[in-house]
Amino acid sequence: MATERTFSIIKPDATRRNLTGAVTKMLEDAGLRVVASKRIQMTREQAEGFYGVHRERPFFNDLVSFMISGPVVVQVLEGEDAVAKNRAVMGATNPANADEGTIRKVHAESIEANSVHGSDSAENAKTEIDYFFSADEIVG
Ligand code: CMP
Repeated sequence: MATERTFSIIKPDATRRNLTGAVTKMLEDAGLRVVASKRIQMTREQAEGFYGVHRERPFFNDLVSFMISGPVVVQVLEGEDAVAKNRAVMGATNPANADEGTIRKVHAESIEANSVHGSDSAENAKTEIDYFFSADEIVG
């Protein structure tokens, strides 16, 4: 399996509780390397664009409002099989269904305030990385 990149967001519920370091350590301990990272306040337009595939879902407006309720940390993670590795360490979307030891099991508050986002495929990872980062901000 070749080295690949994925995209991660440390969400407002985690930054609010000062968990940026704790979450990042779990990512690093899982074998992922942070090759880009920035703390930003997303605009409503940015969040709506990012989650555009969910526009028709009943939770869309609440999701966008939550994602702009405080700062987030957007990151590019690199490693062997990075997309799958990141999804494994994140745990299930709903923390009630997440495995022991995963980020969402340990830290998430609810299905909405679930502490982290991670790309679900290499193709989406590229789109999501390009949405927030220019090439010169990523240093592998
Ligand atoms: P994320 O991986 O960021 O992608 C979409 C987000 O929508 C998801 O994580 C959840 O935090 C959020 N969400 C809120 N409600 C639901 C729901 N009922 N089903 C799926 N995702 C939800």
